Amino acid sequence: MTLKVLSVASEAVPLVKTGGLADVVGALPAALAPHGVETTTLLPGYPSVLASLRRPRAIHVWDSLVGTPARLLSGTLAGTREGDHPLLVLDAPALYAREGAPYTDSAGRDWGDNWQRFAALGRAAADIAGGAVVKRGKPQGFDLVHAHDWQAGLAPAYLRFAPYGAQRVASVVTVHNIAFQGWSGPEVFSQLGLPDEAWAIDGVEYHGGVGMLKAGLACADAVTTVSPTYAREIRSAAFGMGLEGLVIARGSAVHGILNGIDAEVWDPSTDPALPARYGHRTLDRRRINKRALETEFALDADDGPLFIVVTRLTWQKGMDVLPEVIDHLVGIGGRLALLGSGDAALERALFEAAGRHPGRIGIRVGYDEALSHRMQAGGDAILIPSRFEPCGLTQLYGLAYGCLPVVARTGGLADTVIDANPAALAAGCATGVQFDGVTYDGFAAALTRTAALYRQPEVWERIQKNAMKCDFSWKASGKAYADLYAALLA
Ligand code: ADP
Ligand code: GLC
Repeated sequence: MTLKVLSVASEAVPLVKTGGLADVVGALPAALAPHGVETTTLLPGYPSVLASLRRPRAIHVWDSLVGTPARLLSGTLAGTREGDHPLLVLDAPALYAREGAPYTDSAGRDWGDNWQRFAALGRAAADIAGGAVVKRGKPQGFDLVHAHDWQAGLAPAYLRFAPYGAQRVASVVTVHNIAFQGWSGPEVFSQLGLPDEAWAIDGVEYHGGVGMLKAGLACADAVTTVSPTYAREIRSAAFGMGLEGLVIARGSAVHGILNGIDAEVWDPSTDPALPARYGHRTLDRRRINKRALETEFALDADDGPLFIVVTRLTWQKGMDVLPEVIDHLVGIGGRLALLGSGDAALERALFEAAGRHPGRIGIRVGYDEALSHRMQAGGDAILIPSRFEPCGLTQLYGLAYGCLPVVARTGGLADTVIDANPAALAAGCATGVQFDGVTYDGFAAALTRTAALYRQPEVWERIQKNAMKCDFSWKASGKAYADLYAALLA
């Protein structure tokens, strides 16, 4: 029997992306299909999404969806070799037709009506899943709503407190990052169209206002997060960001399911973005990519380790510690190519540190998908000093490309990289380097250790081969989600 799932999110590759959430939401339909799950994705109608929607058809109209007119467009999400996947787009021009980024204006300020923009998404999801959309006289319902992050967090609350029809629809909420919670003041509650009983500790109320992620955590039948370690970490005050009590209270309804990577997009033997394609048996071809990368970043060509960073420039990612270790990185013979965008102060600190080391540090500000591929293929090691990392995808891309991850031991980084300590080296299973605590000392020591491994070519190559043979495709995780859905519907 096919299980029908409505996956609701604010981002999905290839239509709109600000981070890993988009990679995951874009990959899920294909990951779930082999397990008898048919996934339809619901996205907000941002200009970029509307522009790339293929063969759109209007299939439903709301005169007032959380206070604004909206219609539902049906199209397809570009899929993999197996074909495209159904896509629904919420076209509400008053909410989404604007310049800027998905959550912020061109100056980087949060949109003041984000509560309404994403309450509408949640309400629409609950209506659609509950059978509001009628095709040839028959309601088109779903068995389950899978809501991603705070932007979709109200969907399970609407399903529970204000369901569209009598049909019972199960729900799962996935926390990709508990640091972003979607909180707004109490005045918005009356505009959500929820009954008074939803203003409760087991409803949407959070610290005297409306908490969207909180609502999802409280109301969904099951909660998942994107790695087993992060699922444990968010039970503590250090990682739970205030929601740890609720996470603990949900007990065994909380699951850690590791993200996968799209093995068609991230395969160095077929990647069209690379100067030289390669596999674990043709690792020497990486040298061509390394030379090309040096040229691209105006770095000296030499045989020392070339470190890369591909990231949002934020405190979460430890990007304030990176400028501090740059002198050390250069001192041990390293070079660095960095691609990132985000916090302007962090950007300035990086440029300042780079200015001290001409030919050794190259910085590219911006977002460039193809360049990120070339960096993974030409860099020797990718640095990921995150303070917290729910899963992290760039270390998985690094493993697949033999660009060894040097990571802080937290969240999904802890779960996916095997530290090259003496025991792991002896056992022949090391895949990268881990360190504890995002501090100068911890990070600098990890760089020293990485450079020492790099200077033993046989050891390094063995680690690269181990890394490239890891299977972080969606195979296991797609099944884990499908099993969870089936258990909830049983
Ligand atoms: P997060 O979602 O917290 O930013 P992830 O590691 O899960 O972290 O996902 C980040 C995704 O965004 C990866 O696909 C990564 O390659 C990509 N990415 C981040 N910054 C850039 C950039 N400046 N240019 C290109 N891709 C980037
Ligand atoms: C979030 C997290 C990141 C995770 C991604 C996809 O952006 O910060 O660790 O990989 O979501 O789940």
